Parts: sequence; structure tokens; C-alpha cells
Amino acid sequence: MTTRLTAVYPGSFDPITYGHLDIIKRACQLCDRIIVAILVNPNKSPLFSLDERLEQIRHATRHLPAVQVDSFSGLTVNYARMHNARILIRGLRAISDFEMELQMAHTNKTLAPEIETLFLTTSNEYSFLSSSVVKEIARFGGSIDHLVPPEVAIAVSQKFTPHPASCPSSPVL
Ligand code: PNS
Repeated sequence: MTTRLTAVYPGSFDPITYGHLDIIKRACQLCDRIIVAILVNPNKSPLFSLDERLEQIRHATRHLPAVQVDSFSGLTVNYARMHNARILIRGLRAISDFEMELQMAHTNKTLAPEIETLFLTTSNEYSFLSSSVVKEIARFGGSIDHLVPPEVAIAVSQKFTPHPASCPSSPVL
């Protein structure tokens, strides 16, 4: 009998980028099932609601049968245990990521010694890319088409487009 290898890829995904998708696709080559799990973090005010992010990731990964999309609150290792996942996937872009990621991996190891953190280095072309960079560019009207899937690019731009109804000088018809 072969054992199916399940991995959890946790994160905020606010929004999902081509960098995240690159990691997900490569993780699919290594594991049988990848659960992309959005942390519900009460201390953060994300640009996108949980439902919006779930939908964006489901749409962006619809061609990857090994991928499931879910959300969780609390400790990542507890979520991983609940789903029989032995691996946590994290992407590493640069040295600047390393300190924080190492601390997180060590913390998780003390909490759940049976779970391994697997770091995948992001492809060179996405080494600068983060959800924050995407939002920053869009906020100032720059193009993000090369950074996120088309539906996400539209959704991000809409968030930063002033709604006419909310403009005080709009005439009331
Ligand atoms: O996309 P992000 O914001 O870099 O993801 C961070 C995340 C969600 C992986 C991390 O904050 C996390 O695992 N939070 C859950 C709480 C937890 O398990 N903490 C212990 C490890 S420090």
C-alpha cells in the first residue's frame, strides 16, 4: 500500500500571486495532495475577504487536481495534523525571508516534531514578488498584469478604484 503524502501550504494570500502559484505547481510535483490554507487572522485587515481569497485561489488552481483550498484559524501545525499532513510548504524569496521563516519552522518543530517544513526557493522571476508589492503597485495605478492571474488583477484594481457613489461631489440622481 502506498501512503499519500499531504502537504499544507499556509499563508495570507491577500491576494494570491504568480509567485504563490509557482510554489503550488512545484509542490504538486513532490506531494500527492496540497492544501492551500488561508489563515484567518483577526489581527490583520486584509484587502480581500476570506471568501474572495478562497474563490481567487480555487479559480487559479482549478487545473491542478492535487490542490484543495481551505481556511483555518489557530496553529498551522494543529490544522496540518487534522488533515494528516506531514509537510508544511513555504516559499523562500531572499535572505530577508530566511530569519522569520527559520524561526517559524523551528517553532512549528517544537510544537509538532513529526511535521517537516519544506522550503521551496521561488523562481528567479518572482524573487521580488509579494502580495504587498502587488497592492502597492495597484494603489498607485501601475499594471500588475504580469504579477497575478487576470481575475485577481481586475479584482485588485477594483478595490483601488474610487466608487462614484462614495464621492461626496457626485450628484444624487
Ligand atoms: O502569508 P504569510 O502571512 O507570510 O503566512 C504566515 C503564516 C500564516 C504561515 C503564519 O503566520 C502562521 O502559520 N500562522 C498561524 C499561527 C501559528 O501557527 N504560529 C506558530 C508558528 S510562528
